[in-house]
Amino acid sequence: MISNSYLSELFSLNGRIAVVTGGSSGIGQAIAGALARAGASVVIVARKEAELAATVDELVADECRAAWVSADLSTRDGVRAAAEQAAAVFGEPDILVNCAGINLRPPMGELSEDVWDTTMAVNLEAPYLLGERFGPRMAERGYGRIIHITSQQAHRAFVQSGAYGVSKGALESLARSQAEAWSSYGVTCNTLVPGFVPTPLNARLQSDPEKMAALAARTMVGRNGLAEDFAGAAVFLAGPASGYVTGQAIFVDGGFSVH
Ligand SMILES: NC(=O)c1ccc[n+]([C@@H]2O[C@H](COP(=O)([O-])OP(=O)(O)OC[C@H]3O[C@@H](n4cnc5c(N)ncnc54)[C@H](OP(=O)(O)O)[C@@H]3O)[C@@H](O)[C@H]2O)c1
Repeated sequence: MISNSYLSELFSLNGRIAVVTGGSSGIGQAIAGALARAGASVVIVARKEAELAATVDELVADECRAAWVSADLSTRDGVRAAAEQAAAVFGEPDILVNCAGINLRPPMGELSEDVWDTTMAVNLEAPYLLGERFGPRMAERGYGRIIHITSQQAHRAFVQSGAYGVSKGALESLARSQAEAWSSYGVTCNTLVPGFVPTPLNARLQSDPEKMAALAARTMVGRNGLAEDFAGAAVFLAGPASGYVTGQAIFVDGGFSVH
């Protein structure tokens, strides 16, 4: 017999407040939905209002508490404004998911300073600044969960890793620095590492069925990832059950990284 109270003690996010960047698309959208359905009040942050509103409408129709903030996380002022607006909706967050990301992919030798700067701003600086804004307050309250979405490119080069791979490698280091700073106050900091998940981020690759099949064959499960594959791991890392898991990179990649 399943004990719902036992499951709740481990995994319920009732009463928790979450901010999910990139929550309007792909992996972030699935994570925002998972946290909301597990009981959290969720604020999603991205730029495009139509996608943000559609995501929130769907969650609200499913009896979840959700709201959106439109912000450009590629500038420090944009990040600061987003943080204040997000915290003003339901209150200071207990859970921060940094999922907004870009992958511009020029060959290394042609990488412009603009691409470098924008990549670092969205993929690394925004998570750092949001952590600085929310992490110490989570520590004061004695509970917090910071989850970054990195990439296998934090661990190895793959299809023009360029600035993207550098930003994701640094993001894993950021998680460890944050874990070192705040874990003893009840704030865990971890990363989820996707393999290949067809989303708008890699639309170009998806038009090549042979490449898609080759990528699927490199996993152990035998298929490419789905955004929904991140739901369980995100709920686990956001909730009470993961209190002794910190500074870790958890691969949700069908075995891609170890095959
Ligand atoms: N898909 C994969 O195979 C894969 C593999 C490894 C890692 N990842 C990582 O997983 C995360 C999610 O990727 P995804 O595949 O789900 O991508 P996606 O569907 O393209 O979603 C990216 C999200 O980030 C937001 N975003 C991008 N630039 C932004 C900016 N300047 N300010 C605010 N929000 C911004 C987008 O919304 P707006 O455009 O409206 O701003 C969107 O909500 C990324 O960090 C990515 O690096 C993905």
